[in-house]
Amino acid sequence: MAEVDLGALRRNVERLRRIAGPKVALYGVVKADAYGHGAAAVGKVLGPLCDALAVSLVEEGLELRAAGIKGPIVVLGAYYDRYQSEVLEHDLTPVVYDRGDLERFGEAPVRRRPAAVGAPVAIHLKVDTGMNRLGVPVDELPAFFERARAFPRVRIEGLCTHLASADLADAAVTKAQLRLFARALGVARPRAPHLATIHAANSAAAVRFPEARFDAIRPGLALYGAMPSVLVARPDLEPVLNLRTKIMAVHDVKVGQGVSYGGAWRAQRRSRVATLPVGYADGYPRHVRGAQTLVRGSRAPVAGAVCMDMMMIDVTDVPGATLGDQVTLIGGDQGTGAAAPISIDELALWAGTVNYEILCGLSKRVPRIYTATAAR
Ligand SMILES: Cc1ncc(COP(=O)(O)O)c(C=O)c1O
Repeated sequence: MAEVDLGALRRNVERLRRIAGPKVALYGVVKADAYGHGAAAVGKVLGPLCDALAVSLVEEGLELRAAGIKGPIVVLGAYYDRYQSEVLEHDLTPVVYDRGDLERFGEAPVRRRPAAVGAPVAIHLKVDTGMNRLGVPVDELPAFFERARAFPRVRIEGLCTHLASADLADAAVTKAQLRLFARALGVARPRAPHLATIHAANSAAAVRFPEARFDAIRPGLALYGAMPSVLVARPDLEPVLNLRTKIMAVHDVKVGQGVSYGGAWRAQRRSRVATLPVGYADGYPRHVRGAQTLVRGSRAPVAGAVCMDMMMIDVTDVPGATLGDQVTLIGGDQGTGAAAPISIDELALWAGTVNYEILCGLSKRVPRIYTATAAR
């Protein structure tokens, strides 16, 4: 089960607000099921604390609306296909990144809400400043604004970009992107009379580049208590998620015997091996090397290949480890031992991936249990 500490989430919002200062709005990024934490539950907590929530897909915005969340929701850059009307009918604010979508949002009928017919359509415009993923190139902005004049119902209320390297040692790339974004702003300001919110900063940029904060920051990972690299690490952020399970079987393994598929792990001594009901179908990475878990406050290494629904750990050095014992795969052990908590950064390292992928990969069959601890 994944324990999600909504108290820690709230405190992370406060910390990020303190970092950004009172004049900067905060868009809470809850895409990818709130980075695996559960979009509806997290969205309900973040909604009142943030100036807007941000998602990636239209479907994710609709899920938040279905959960009763009424505040502003920005869709950061979906493939809108033919779903412009749905976006508008549910009061989602689309980030638009090409002329085709400008036109389609400009012409989309708004069914079901007669009051919205002819009402202004608020959009944010994405500018590509170097990520080469989404956005109108800066040189094409004048033509974009010219085309927008044909759709007076469309109001460009936001201008944004995405920073590709804010967590890397070399700040030059980010600074170059910000210079290009400043040029984009110079083009946009006189042409977009309703422009109100400029935003560019993901977690790393929000912390590291004050000049990237503009009117709003857009952190995702930091809300959940992690950061993309050691360069921007923030010890004051609290991890929000713990992943725990229980020992479902324990057995003795003789010297030389293998464990799990392929038998690549072989007992070098008489061993006690415990089986856990968690596997890669739950999102625990299949290809971990040197991974550990926490049992009774001690580190217990993963033994053999992670299976789809189960995995084994070596508890030979954990005296008394037995059926039903709690095992922590991410987080701290509530037990008596003194071993350090397992961070998602550590698990990501063992898996040869990034902490984002660990969180987003936790599958829907892992129950999310919501708690709210008091400040540490
Ligand atoms: C457009 C956009 N903004 C903000 C974020 C949040 O990034 P982070 O989780 O690094 O804060 C993302 C995430 O990838 C994104 O794609």
